[in-house]
Amino acid sequence: MYQDLISLADLTTNDILELLALAAEQKRALREGKTSRPLEGKTVAMIFEKPSLRTRVTFETGIFQLGGHGIVLESGQIKLGERESVPDIARNLERWVDGIVARTFSHEAVEDLARYASVPVINALTDKLHPCQVLADAQCLIEHKGDLGSLKLAFVGDGNNVCASWFNFAARVPLNITLVCPPGYEADPEITAFAQREAKGEIVITHDIEVGVKGSHAVYTDVWASMGQEDESKERQRIFAPYQVNAKLMALAKPDAVFMHCLPAKRGLEVTDDVMDSKQSIVFDEAENRLHAQKAVLTKLIGK
Ligand code: CP
Ligand code: NVA
Repeated sequence: MYQDLISLADLTTNDILELLALAAEQKRALREGKTSRPLEGKTVAMIFEKPSLRTRVTFETGIFQLGGHGIVLESGQIKLGERESVPDIARNLERWVDGIVARTFSHEAVEDLARYASVPVINALTDKLHPCQVLADAQCLIEHKGDLGSLKLAFVGDGNNVCASWFNFAARVPLNITLVCPPGYEADPEITAFAQREAKGEIVITHDIEVGVKGSHAVYTDVWASMGQEDESKERQRIFAPYQVNAKLMALAKPDAVFMHCLPAKRGLEVTDDVMDSKQSIVFDEAENRLHAQKAVLTKLIGK
């Protein structure tokens, strides 16, 4: 039984399917106006070292809807590892709160919070992984396409934290994923090897756009320069330009393929307006599901 959500690789296939089922059930319940309060009387501290719209609002709203109370700690406030060490922050927080949600630069910071705090820790994005995003996206893909096992998802762009979490997901739940990226921007080699070893579906990396996108049921992209890589923006714009998701690239996928993006999007760079605003785009459904997927995680880890 998992105590924290640091990486989807730490969960079993059943754990992930259970979270997805709970997320779907809670989404339905919310739409029917039914409430449940498994976090009644509980508090959750939320550490944000990086900016956020979706993650912050969906966690805070989710905690509120589940009857709990969320406390946001901005990076300037606690100065993670600077004003105080990460283990000491963990040892303080565990005395007061029932769970910790953390978005940090270093992945080790979230791992350390989990190691030193006795309460559950939820990874809200690190430089390495973004598991909550992929849970919400998987829920979305199921809603639009049904069974994942027969699908091919083409992740076009940087083999970054979101891509790595998709690889971890596919190591546990059958899904074929092809990362289509420029040379040198492949996903973390350890995570790639792990996914290729464990996955029931195919995990492929190619630099060839036509080969990679052809026949895909979903085309996913993300920013070319992630938070913390702003200095590389100009160079990355040049390198990633051929990998822009535009109408021509989407035409390589199946005619009814969906377009996915974790957001925020840099329109005109990794994706064009016509694709973002097309009927194929399900980007705001993904954003909506952040609420439901994370409520499932909060219920499972922190709920009574
Ligand atoms: N997708 C996502 O995590 O969005 P935010 O950075 O706005 O939280
Ligand atoms: N890869 C992006 C995801 C943002 C939600 C980043 O880390 O900035």
